[in-house]
Amino acid sequence: MTGTKKVSEMSSAEIKEAVRKSYERAAQSTRDDCCSASASETERNHGTSSCCNPESAELNSRTNHVEELGYEVVKMPDSGTESFTEYANPVAIADLKEGEVVLDLGSGAGLDMFHAARKVGSTGRVVGVDMTQAMIDNARDGAEKLGLDNVEFRLGDIEEIPVEDESIDVIISNCVINLAPNKAKVFQEAFRVLRPGGRMMVSDMILETELSEDIRQDISCYAGCIAGAILEEEYLQHIRNAGFVDVEIVDKVAWKQAFNTRIVAYKPKSGNN
Ligand SMILES: C[S@@+](CC[C@H](N)C(=O)[O-])C[C@H]1O[C@@H](n2cnc3c(N)ncnc32)[C@H](O)[C@@H]1O
Repeated sequence: MTGTKKVSEMSSAEIKEAVRKSYERAAQSTRDDCCSASASETERNHGTSSCCNPESAELNSRTNHVEELGYEVVKMPDSGTESFTEYANPVAIADLKEGEVVLDLGSGAGLDMFHAARKVGSTGRVVGVDMTQAMIDNARDGAEKLGLDNVEFRLGDIEEIPVEDESIDVIISNCVINLAPNKAKVFQEAFRVLRPGGRMMVSDMILETELSEDIRQDISCYAGCIAGAILEEEYLQHIRNAGFVDVEIVDKVAWKQAFNTRIVAYKPKSGNN
């Protein structure tokens, strides 16, 4: 990590590297969750454990939660369960249609991708982008164990998405954009790669009130999906500024100091505002 440097003293590159290392540790360990990989004194004191990769008992409870929410439940290989976020992205998955091309921003070990792959079927395709090689490796292993041949994994930064212009029907993302230092850039990139008329369905940690300064400045709280979260109105404005229309909050669930918020937005059919 970056020692005791405050988040506000770190460059974007340093923040991303700290986040990447935290998820690399989480991906490489089947026992430690990323809470233990990244938890600091501050985080423990404030009860802000990470939003990802709960231990196995919690995995079961998330699996049940996923079932309750109507996922077509697939038996996940171990490597596909190692970067679970606490809440799934069921709205996004449920809305997918046969034949669609889906992009998952920050795909982790691939859970949402695997569900999406089943929904879009053999005529569709799911591309996952993640900046942590160990996560990509786990996701590839998982896809192989599940026998999925309509998924593809790309190592890259969601602030510079390694995907061609207007090639994607649906963008999904689950608990990732809060981790990006430049959220405006993420949404500009998402707009670029979506085809006109395409949709974006993200699930992310968003704030209703400002965080305390000590949480905001703690890099392990940042890697744990809290300290990088921004206020709802600012988040929605970034989406609208990128050119998206009909931006709507579908639902939100309180999580620690933030809300796990699901948002749907569309790229206009004309391709412009
Ligand atoms: C909380 S995990 C969520 C993973 C997955 N979406 C899930 O629900 O299980 C966050 C993931 O985002 C990735 N990530 C964080 N910042 C990123 C960035 N700027 N570009 C690409 N991936 C990023 C991390 O490597 C990690 O795999």
